[in-house]
Amino acid sequence: MTTFRTSTDPAREVAADLLIVPVVEGDGGAGLKETGLADAYAAARLTGKKGEDLLVPRRDHDRFAAANVLLVGIGPKDQVDVNSLRRSLAKAVAGVRRFPSVATTFAQAVPARQAADAVQAVVEAIDLGSYRFGRYKTAKDDGALAKVTVLVPSRADAKAMKRAARTGEIVGDAVGWARDLVNTPAGDLPPAEIAREAQKMAKQVGLTCKVWSENQLKQGGFGGILGVGKGSANPPRMIELRYTGAGKRTPIALTGKGIAFDSGGLSIKDAAGMETMKCDMGGAASILATMKVIAQLEPKINVIAAIPSAENMPSGTAQKPGDVITHRGGTTSEVLNTDAEGRLILADSLAFLAEQEPSCIVDTATLTGACMVALGADIAGAFGNDDALAQELVTAGAAVGEPIWQMPLWIEYKQLIESKVADVKNVGKRYGGAITAALFLSEFVGDTPWVHLDIAGPAFHESATDLGPAGATGVPVRALVRFVLDRAGA
Ligand code: BES
Ligand code: ZN
Ligand code: ZN
Repeated sequence: MTTFRTSTDPAREVAADLLIVPVVEGDGGAGLKETGLADAYAAARLTGKKGEDLLVPRRDHDRFAAANVLLVGIGPKDQVDVNSLRRSLAKAVAGVRRFPSVATTFAQAVPARQAADAVQAVVEAIDLGSYRFGRYKTAKDDGALAKVTVLVPSRADAKAMKRAARTGEIVGDAVGWARDLVNTPAGDLPPAEIAREAQKMAKQVGLTCKVWSENQLKQGGFGGILGVGKGSANPPRMIELRYTGAGKRTPIALTGKGIAFDSGGLSIKDAAGMETMKCDMGGAASILATMKVIAQLEPKINVIAAIPSAENMPSGTAQKPGDVITHRGGTTSEVLNTDAEGRLILADSLAFLAEQEPSCIVDTATLTGACMVALGADIAGAFGNDDALAQELVTAGAAVGEPIWQMPLWIEYKQLIESKVADVKNVGKRYGGAITAALFLSEFVGDTPWVHLDIAGPAFHESATDLGPAGATGVPVRALVRFVLDRAGA
């Protein structure tokens, strides 16, 4: 656990093990005058380009108190913003986790009126960049980063800075938790265990939580969740969470795909296709983490979440291609490919949420390989029946540096998922697979304004990025939090 504090002390006086200082490209090291490091900058022929860094141990004649200084290139001044700072700092932090106490002037690299946002981003950067998944490593992680001092502009409002740091901590912790849930192998995190984690979290932060058992799902008519789950020895669940921050006002609704493991079912994946499929509850994890943040930040809004979780396995009891299932609310679907299972469980949770008449529904899911083909590993696709709502998510994503791009919910393609025997079938043709998946989901929301975020690409990365190591990313927790806060008018 890292503890954070904010301080207006001059950087030069901070007695940390390491002081992390941003270097702007193209100013010839002018920003380093205060620390007296302009000579080190020149000697190392630094330019301030993004990605550049240099560790300078203190020498006798140096004018700063920290034992070491890390100079980090952040690119040209006109390209520096809160999101680029978060990335540059997170990337730098990954290499200096061995220092127990760290201070940084990164929050001072943007104009003072953005100081609060910058402080939050700095704290997030340190949490995200130093994140490691250590659960199964027998050697103790000696990366510590126990104490972090965020240096703020000398005239900054101390209370506002403190609050921003606290928000950053809440968000950083929740993203780390979402990453832990996704990185934990399916063997140790079946649906019932995900539900237990949710209950524990709800109790800790004061959310209402109801876990639907397999029997309760049967009684409630959740045929999609049951159909996908019935091939597994680990029975399915649905997690219902409620946050009340605005009395009786109409809530917003969230759901996320919680496939504990996606083997494909009888339409089985090949070995390589299965390797990362513990990630298939990334949508569920991000909704859990978002709810956790909401409960801690207490915005004036009501939020309900219903998170379906099942394990998609082949077995003698598994659903079969050609089976017809009846979803919550009565719509039937023909299961032609058991590997298109995410939409089947989300159909139930979307129908359930639509019944509650929320002002809008947002779902997020590692839904299709097709969306990864379209947008690559970094960008989430947004599909929905309400352009203004979709744009709210695009805007929220842009604000926090989690890119979301709106994609077409092209109604003409609905014919691709028409079934000869049921109301709808669960696969279209090969092309446009992310769109037909979204169209399938759209059948279950009625008239409720709804947006679906396909996070098959950004939820899980095969190699490290600026914001964290290989594995779960925690996307789109920060975008969802921002969306909910914007909605609450906070
Ligand atoms: N969980 C997968 C989608 C996925 C693929 C997520 C790669 C992350 C990385 C999903 O359940 C799936 O298997 N989708 C199929 C749909 C197809 C059968 C219509 C796909 O994308 O191939
Ligand atoms: Zn699948
Ligand atoms: Zn899946």
